[in-house]
Amino acid sequence: MHSNLKSIFARRSIREYKNREVPDNMIKDILEAGMAAPSAVTKDPWHFIVVRNKNMLGQIANGLPNGQMLRKAGVGVVVCGDMNKAHDSQESYMIQDCSAAIENILLAASMLGLGACWLGVHPRRERINHIRGLFSLHDNIVPVSVISIGWPNSIPQARTRYNEAAVHYEKW
Ligand SMILES: Cc1cc2nc3c(=O)[nH]c(=O)nc-3n(C[C@H](O)[C@H](O)[C@H](O)COP(=O)(O)O)c2cc1C
Repeated sequence: MHSNLKSIFARRSIREYKNREVPDNMIKDILEAGMAAPSAVTKDPWHFIVVRNKNMLGQIANGLPNGQMLRKAGVGVVVCGDMNKAHDSQESYMIQDCSAAIENILLAASMLGLGACWLGVHPRRERINHIRGLFSLHDNIVPVSVISIGWPNSIPQARTRYNEAAVHYEKW
């Protein structure tokens, strides 16, 4: 693998964090990286709710069965999409744009030495409604995921999941 791609393979889902604060300027940089993602017709339909309050992180975790690490995260970022801004008012474009931003955020966090994990919300109705309720979101705002961020307890090995069977040259 080319050494320029190292940071892509070094990004791993990090679920255990040190009890150490994540500085505001790092969060700003990470969000700026998120908003540099590709977006259909550059609609940038994303919004990011930055949560540090432990009580609120716990309340978010109450609705995310696979998101219990949020309780010990320094920051949670709730990634939402605005259906009124999405290209062609299509949910799929909104989700694709937000997902590109989420991956940029995960990569940026990893490149800054932080650990992060994508916690799935969309399309689980009960999770969407849980987040909607907590933040009193308008109907056009759709929570897509929550990203937990903190200083990693340990840093796993970089890895590749290259699978020749998933690659098709010229024809299926
Ligand atoms: C749509 C989506 C939802 C996910 N939801 C969760 C989740 O709720 N909890 C969790 O611990 N990890 C979640 N993950 C992270 C995956 O488990 C992880 O990316 C996968 O195991 C590959 O490992 P890696 O990220 O270390 O490469 C999610 C990832 C995606 C793309």
